[in-house]
Amino acid sequence: MALSRMKLKVLQGHLENIEVFDNPKILLEQYPTTPHIAAIMLHQIQTKFGDIEGCSVLDLGCGCGILSIGSVMLGAGYVLGIDVDEEALEVCRRNLDEHEISEVDLLQQNIFNISPNINDDSEKFLPKRFETVIMNPPFGTKKNAGIDMEFVKTALMMSTNAVYSLHKTATRKHLVKKAKDWGVSIDILGEFNFDLANTFKCHKKSVANIEVDFVRFAHKNE
Ligand SMILES: C[S@@+](CC[C@H](N)C(=O)[O-])C[C@H]1O[C@@H](n2cnc3c(N)ncnc32)[C@H](O)[C@@H]1O
Repeated sequence: MALSRMKLKVLQGHLENIEVFDNPKILLEQYPTTPHIAAIMLHQIQTKFGDIEGCSVLDLGCGCGILSIGSVMLGAGYVLGIDVDEEALEVCRRNLDEHEISEVDLLQQNIFNISPNINDDSEKFLPKRFETVIMNPPFGTKKNAGIDMEFVKTALMMSTNAVYSLHKTATRKHLVKKAKDWGVSIDILGEFNFDLANTFKCHKKSVANIEVDFVRFAHKNE
């Protein structure tokens, strides 16, 4: 069976064996994508759009690597995972070793060091090197306001085809407006519930359950 036809449940089963953050850092918004959500995202990206198998994929804010590893399981040709946090990358390296995956390179970098102005076409860091970006960026809490948009701008600059991302449903209107400004199309592919209480024990109940959109941005060259 071709890898890209791997059944959703089988993919989720593999992703359930991936180690998560030892000490999640609240300021870096280190909540891992659950195996269930990651499997639905990746499966849909491949079966509906064919944007993983044989593609070069970028995972911005890769954390422990669930989206990178799942992409390889669905046949990605090459994956680069970027994260600011060396401890998260250490967990990611262990996961790659555990699954004997060699198609993923890792880079420790702060998104703000590679973030472009989307209207600025000067040569910046790795412009247009990846076909697909798949990410679960920080949502942009009070301390990090705007970081979610910075991730999307950078992802669009570094890709030729499409960007798949998770965003608070509350920001949907703003995202739609930004996509229009940037000249890219936007589709909401699904909605999930993120339970942050399990990640950050100190999270108040009232803010622990967050509604999240699964979003596809596409360059208009399709
Ligand atoms: C919501 S977690 C997602 C982790 C992983 N991609 C997943 O799906 O489980 C966001 C990730 O972004 C990383 N991050 C936060 N701020 C960053 C920054 N300024 N530059 C690069 N990575 C950052 C965090 O360390 C964390 O691993």
